[in-house]
Amino acid sequence: MAVISFARGIPAPECLAVDELADCAKAAIERDGKTVLSYGPGGGYGPLREWIAARHGVEPARVVVTSGSLQAFVFLAEQLVQPGSRVIFEAPTYDRPIKILRRLGAEMVGIPMDDDGLHPEALEEALASGPKPAFLYTIATFQNPSGRTLTEERRRRVAEIAREHDLLVIEDDPYGLIRFEGPPIPTLFELEGGENVAYASSFSKTIAPGVRVGYYVLPAPLAAQIEALAVSTYITPPFMTQATVHEFLRRGNFEPNVDRVNGLLRGRRDAMLEALERHAPEGAVWTRPEGGYFVWLDLEHDAPSLASAQAAGVTFVEGKDFFADGSGSRSIRLAFSYVSTDEIAEGVARLAPLLAGATAPVA
Ligand SMILES: Cc1ncc(COP(=O)(O)O)c(C=O)c1O
Repeated sequence: MAVISFARGIPAPECLAVDELADCAKAAIERDGKTVLSYGPGGGYGPLREWIAARHGVEPARVVVTSGSLQAFVFLAEQLVQPGSRVIFEAPTYDRPIKILRRLGAEMVGIPMDDDGLHPEALEEALASGPKPAFLYTIATFQNPSGRTLTEERRRRVAEIAREHDLLVIEDDPYGLIRFEGPPIPTLFELEGGENVAYASSFSKTIAPGVRVGYYVLPAPLAAQIEALAVSTYITPPFMTQATVHEFLRRGNFEPNVDRVNGLLRGRRDAMLEALERHAPEGAVWTRPEGGYFVWLDLEHDAPSLASAQAAGVTFVEGKDFFADGSGSRSIRLAFSYVSTDEIAEGVARLAPLLAGATAPVA
């Protein structure tokens, strides 16, 4: 029996515009081969930097294009975090930053969230209860792992708090455009004005993760520091893939591709929610995201083990991976992005008895 993976937070193969990207890669070399096949500035491929800068209304010098947005997060964390530095983030949060911050010796301060995103009051309490943190890390829209979105009202409050406390906020926003319904909400970066907010996004979800093209929009001095770190790490960015992405954008393919991808993923999100309605045991609660890749499921008792799920032919990521303090044992993350709608229905049916077992009253 083939295992159905709700663990893989990656796009389904049909989301990837393979033929068009092959054509863009060829055109990018033909158009600008002498530049893109050589060494060059650490901040990224000039025309792409300019496109991103225009989109966010900043000077190109504030944009650093990196090998995926996670690479820029590593650079920023290395620049800003010393052993013992406090870093505040939502609990739960994306597991890779937790690992990176742990490696750097950060003091991890997870703050609670609900369906409306992180609690601004909890942020204020965290700020009052210790030394000034290096930054707040937040995934405000269609969060990984919970699928939750910070409401506009709370965003405004978080932006105010950032200004009042001169707090740097890292807004990680790879999923914002992966919206299936509902009106877009302004980013923290837009609401705050971009002085205290470093904004990150990526073409991993809107074009393809394999191009490894992500970016940060930073306050200018920080952008120069991160660019220097990039140069001392890999000398020059991978211009070929950056120029391929730029060619894709230049041809006007971006918005239609995002619409196409959203259509494919909306059907998967619907299939996941329908299957949970049908199969989830009493007492289980789960998020209903308007976009992104993930549904977060909370049980009344400990979640089934991964080994038992694998034996039943299905996988997910355990909730505890998304907390720095070992909590989360009653939760799991279900990614609907990779599998087909039929697999989603079958996978949730396979999971159902395990979830029911896990929620049965403890004798
Ligand atoms: C919240 C979040 N940030 C960053 C990334 C990494 O994206 P990239 O492929 O641009 O490095 C991911 C990938 O899944 C993610 O979920």
